[in-house]
Amino acid sequence: MALTYSEKVMEHFSNPRNVGEIDNPDGLGEAGNPRCGDIMKIYLKVKDNPGGAAVIEDVKFKTFGCASAIASSSMATEMIKGRTVDEAWDLTNTAVADALDGLPPIKMHCSVLAEEAIHKAINDYREKRGLDLIPMKDYGDEHEVCAV
Ligand code: FES
Repeated sequence: MALTYSEKVMEHFSNPRNVGEIDNPDGLGEAGNPRCGDIMKIYLKVKDNPGGAAVIEDVKFKTFGCASAIASSSMATEMIKGRTVDEAWDLTNTAVADALDGLPPIKMHCSVLAEEAIHKAINDYREKRGLDLIPMKDYGDEHEVCAV
């Protein structure tokens, strides 16, 4: 079955933003889909603002996965760069998919990797700063495997 991708998905897949790593990141999160084997890593550089909100100064990703996972990583990193850490936490996989003008329904689970990896990176940052961890959602049920 051929899948139809939006132009934005194809554009972000062909020309992904923020690919790479950050040395000594303030936060590192890795999410993997055990069913398809795809893996996404998110690296954060966070600027702490005493008395104000911490801001994501830079973000990079490495994704070993399908086109939807790469496009979702690219879009998600664009959406959290320059935002506060709290705003980044609130980014949902559906918002990422919407920003890509949608993903095929059987590919929605690929965008879940981005939300999960960002949450893990933020909690890694919080742990390094001695802050309480934010409870993570159980993503196990959201990792489906697609038929193509
Ligand atoms: Fe594995 Fe898309 S993330 S198929």
